[in-house]
Amino acid sequence: MTTATDILYTRYQLKDLKAAEAFMIDFGLATVSRTKQCLRMRGVDAAPFLYEAVAGDENRFLGIGFSVGSRSALERLAAMPGSSPLQTFDEGAGGLFVRMTMPDGFLIDAVWGAELPNAFAVRRPNGFNAGQHKRRFNASVRQRAEPAPVLRLGHVVLHVSDHQASVAWLRERLGLIPSDHFGPPPGKPEEAYGTFLRVNRGAELVDHHCMLVLQAESVGVHHSSFEMQDLDHVMAAHDYLVARKHRLDCGVGRHLLGSQIYDYWKDPAGFRVEHYTDGDVVNHEHQPGVFCGTADETTQWGMAPSKEFFG
Ligand SMILES: [Fe+2]
Repeated sequence: MTTATDILYTRYQLKDLKAAEAFMIDFGLATVSRTKQCLRMRGVDAAPFLYEAVAGDENRFLGIGFSVGSRSALERLAAMPGSSPLQTFDEGAGGLFVRMTMPDGFLIDAVWGAELPNAFAVRRPNGFNAGQHKRRFNASVRQRAEPAPVLRLGHVVLHVSDHQASVAWLRERLGLIPSDHFGPPPGKPEEAYGTFLRVNRGAELVDHHCMLVLQAESVGVHHSSFEMQDLDHVMAAHDYLVARKHRLDCGVGRHLLGSQIYDYWKDPAGFRVEHYTDGDVVNHEHQPGVFCGTADETTQWGMAPSKEFFG
């Protein structure tokens, strides 16, 4: 079993790379490289890039990149049906990758061995003085509305035509494991219509999900989600994006499954992108559950998503 160690990047094909870059800079990413054909952007964390857009005559989601832990894991993937051979990942950073196609045509990359750039500087998280647990002493919070920096890609949510087939593919190829399921009846996860998947690092704590796969009529990406340092950065970015007249989709609020504080925006091409903070982290002790409630119940507080969000 190959195990993906983390989610690395999300990829799109776009008609207008310049508009995408301008929005993503406001959203909190930094440009790594830009040609007429390809835009790559990064966050604070030490990863080569977390967002790639290639030029094309229609806007569409392309796929996702994951890191794997060894060259032998990559070679195993390269030997599987439909995989590309090992290819150079990046001329500067080196490394190797294999490109695969999951059901519905999403391209999934597995990457190993790339040299990592230095992380950018970012302020430390603001200590939160909860009612019964004070964490900030003799210090004040000062936060302006600004393009607060994205740290990393957290997760990508896909609408698929065959939920079970997609989950099976991701489990077999990347070793992703379920954290929670959507769907009746309780206790029968095999009948789920949605599954939150995480990387399997055993006792080590990881994000509740790096992917959510949902059965849907129309196939495509639902959103790509990026982690922020804390609530002050989510709100600072929110006010800044409002001031820059970008399109708010839904936020701020708190999800039920994964518990993230979310803030969703639409990029210039209409793709939904999310800032989040304070998501659940879990390890092998986490027991997957089955959520059988309504779409409305997946928001605990805050601005409720529109009907289109659940479409
Ligand atoms: Fe999300």
